[in-house]
Amino acid sequence: MRFAAVVGARPEFVQLTPLSLALREVGHEQVIIHTGQHYDDRMSATFFEELPLPKPDYHLGVGSGRHGVQTGAMLEQLERVLMRDRPDGVIVFGDTNSTLAAALAAVKLHIPVAHVEAGLRSFNRTMPEEINRVVTDHVATRLFSPTETGMRNLEREGITRGVEVTGDVMYDILRRVRPRLAKRAHQLLPALGLEPGGYVLATIHRPGNTDDPEAMQRIARAFTRAEMPVMFSVHPRTRKLLDQYGIPWGAHVSLIEPVGYLDMLTLEESARCVATDSGGVQKEAFLLGVPCVTMREDTEWVETVEYGWNVLTGSRTEAIIAGIQRPRPAPPARNPFGEGDAARRIAESLRTWSGNLQPRDERDVIELP
Ligand code: UD1
Ligand code: UDP
Repeated sequence: MRFAAVVGARPEFVQLTPLSLALREVGHEQVIIHTGQHYDDRMSATFFEELPLPKPDYHLGVGSGRHGVQTGAMLEQLERVLMRDRPDGVIVFGDTNSTLAAALAAVKLHIPVAHVEAGLRSFNRTMPEEINRVVTDHVATRLFSPTETGMRNLEREGITRGVEVTGDVMYDILRRVRPRLAKRAHQLLPALGLEPGGYVLATIHRPGNTDDPEAMQRIARAFTRAEMPVMFSVHPRTRKLLDQYGIPWGAHVSLIEPVGYLDMLTLEESARCVATDSGGVQKEAFLLGVPCVTMREDTEWVETVEYGWNVLTGSRTEAIIAGIQRPRPAPPARNPFGEGDAARRIAESLRTWSGNLQPRDERDVIELP
């Protein structure tokens, strides 16, 4: 079987890593298509250098733009590449515009779509990611859900065929690299002037926060009042907006460039608390046993909240401070994100999938103009 995996944004490079390894182990051929949604070295190239990821076979160089412009450009280019390449299936991850564009391009060419991280819902349709997830799930043939919750969400939308609960691929890669983090912390923390368990690690990139100067003011006030250093890895979208807002941050708040994946996990694992609006970072904090404050009103990773390791604070200053200062929760009764073998399960499952696919020669043959 030959699969095209489409990636474009930072979390997708992390998700692809264990799956790419597993696809190879199982003997599937893979073609990697990078849409170019993220393009700064620290948002893209770093991941391909640091992680055992093959170089993309295609780089579409789409870049930034409004949703319609960006998604439309991806759709057009992906269609061309898929028509030329004719993979047996297209694999998409999560909920970005790259995910949506790839799913639409493939399904319209009658190429079946496998969605990794299927079934997650925040039930907030003002989030672009929620639209991307819902549409992708409804056009996918195979849906690999990280959690039981994801499977139930799909059931409620009438999707029961092709669904499997596999666990979460981001846990696979985290589990693999975790033994290397302690040694890394010995060097990284002193270089940044940090004590283990003595700082907050922050990330912010959701438009609901970044595009609202007042929300960013409230968050800045909370960080400024935190009684410990705050290491804030600033996403380029956030950096551009903060430069316009000119918000003052306390002296103990360090605004740093995005860090590589291993440094990020190292900083998460040694933090007293993680404060974020990222999906992946909430989940990693849980898996690393670090309390999390999520500066959103909802989350798709509901288990992290149910187990007491995550609190939803929106951008409310007092709630963020209380969340950072809260006592450490009790250890979770179980890990709802699987066994750390999700990628292998998915790759194996895709092997037995061949019977469901239309044979190549029965598909429409579309010539490139
Ligand atoms: C995207 C995803 C979001 C994901 C996030 C991960 C969508 C709709 N959103 O959000 O789900 O959580 O990636 O990080 O797909 N920019 C740069 N350099 C880059 C990339 C972005 O400067 O390498 C700036 C540009 O000004 C751009 C802005 O960031 O307009 C937003 O980038 P975009 O990829 O559109 O969305 P993200 O906010 O990164
Ligand atoms: N990440 C990273 N460096 C950073 C911030 C995040 O390597 O400075 C990693 C993080 O560990 C996780 C992934 O990027 O694996 C999450 O991506 P992001 O927060 O951009 O997107 P989301 O998960 O919200 O879609």
